[in-house]
Amino acid sequence: MNAPLRLLTVIGARPQIIKAAAISRAVAGPFAGRIHETLLHTGQHYDANMSQVFFDELGIPRADIDLGVGSGSHGAQTARMIEGIEQELKRNTYDAVLLYGDTNSTLAGAVAAAKLHIPVAHVEAGLRSFNKAMPEEINRIACDHSSTWLFCPTDTAVHNLQREGFDPSNAGPAHIDRPRVVQCGDVMYDNSMHFADLAAARSVLLPSLGLGPEGYALVTVHRDHNTDVPERLNAIVGALVALHDAHDLPLVLPVHPRTRKCLDQLLDPVLASALRERPRIHLIPPAGFLDMIALERNARLVVTDSGGVQKEAFFFGKPCVILRPGTEWVELVAHGQAVLADADPVRIAEGAEAFLTNGAPPCPPLFGDGHAAERICTELLRDR
Ligand code: UD1
Ligand code: UDP
Repeated sequence: MNAPLRLLTVIGARPQIIKAAAISRAVAGPFAGRIHETLLHTGQHYDANMSQVFFDELGIPRADIDLGVGSGSHGAQTARMIEGIEQELKRNTYDAVLLYGDTNSTLAGAVAAAKLHIPVAHVEAGLRSFNKAMPEEINRIACDHSSTWLFCPTDTAVHNLQREGFDPSNAGPAHIDRPRVVQCGDVMYDNSMHFADLAAARSVLLPSLGLGPEGYALVTVHRDHNTDVPERLNAIVGALVALHDAHDLPLVLPVHPRTRKCLDQLLDPVLASALRERPRIHLIPPAGFLDMIALERNARLVVTDSGGVQKEAFFFGKPCVILRPGTEWVELVAHGQAVLADADPVRIAEGAEAFLTNGAPPCPPLFGDGHAAERICTELLRDR
């Protein structure tokens, strides 16, 4: 029998910690003894409610290595991560490095590993917003083109890679110069299905806010383009207050730390007091994952600029207004379950109004069967 595959998994930002739960479950379960996973946390996210809560709730093993890089400019933060990951890759022997998504932690892992000739496995490969003003677009393209295995959650992602010269029919041994593209489904779908019942049993957030099923809209905003640009932040908050007033609809906003700072510094005083004066607009700290699933499952409407939250809305059949000009999850818009509203108050109001009147169309299972993580582990072991 082969020695176990030595896998270094790099995580750092909230969604990556959550995604890691799916692979860690597979490694501890059906792949026990065949894959040995070491978890490296870059420390990109570090507040307890942006990091530790997910380890506690989702049964993810404690990180073996914590680089503790913290916040900083893109260059400074990414450089610290590359240095720390490179040191670990030189200190211990790894057969592969597993990376999630499109954050600075993803980019750092790709650069460090590929330059040391250690194969990279990229989960959520092939996603494109076709908007290089987004730091995430740069990160995901650089990571895809440094990868040996490209694990795509959707057919669209496979097609995007094909357009960039990848050959999805390559079934030979995976190599950085002959990478293997695999449509494996979405690990986020795995997690949403896996934790849905636990969330229903454990989460007490909704009753604590005096809210019940279909009785509120869930809102998250954290993209730098929305939070850091005062005109856009004010336009979005103005649209949210108007949505609340027009439909007498409570809003729940778990506020990302970046957004909290920008609300404190950039929000128009009139809007700030409008928020304060409306007791049914609930600004709460970032939620744990179980609370978040409960919030998504019971919402009447989701309004978000998050990649993960727009998809989870789809998983739970909830209509979604996307606060972005475009999305890499084009299937959601194509199916009519989500609309793109950017930071435009008129489009936000019209999109919300239509969904509040008509609800969401059916949401077919476009993101796999809940077993993406097992498929990824199987592929990683295939060439050994
Ligand atoms: C990052 C990712 C983004 C992802 C998001 C998930 C990049 C370029 N961006 O954005 O793709 O959607 O994570 O949430 O990697 N902060 C805290 N405490 C924390 C973490 C952050 O206070 O635990 C504050 C700091 O002021 C920091 C700011 O939030 O400067 C932004 O954090 P950062 O990790 O740089 O980017 P995100 O906006 O979180
Ligand atoms: N999430 C969470 N608590 C929150 C907001 C989001 O647990 O307060 C979860 C959400 O359910 C999803 C993931 O975090 O699984 C999405 O991360 P985020 O919105 O930070 O980033 P993105 O997906 O846009 O990169």
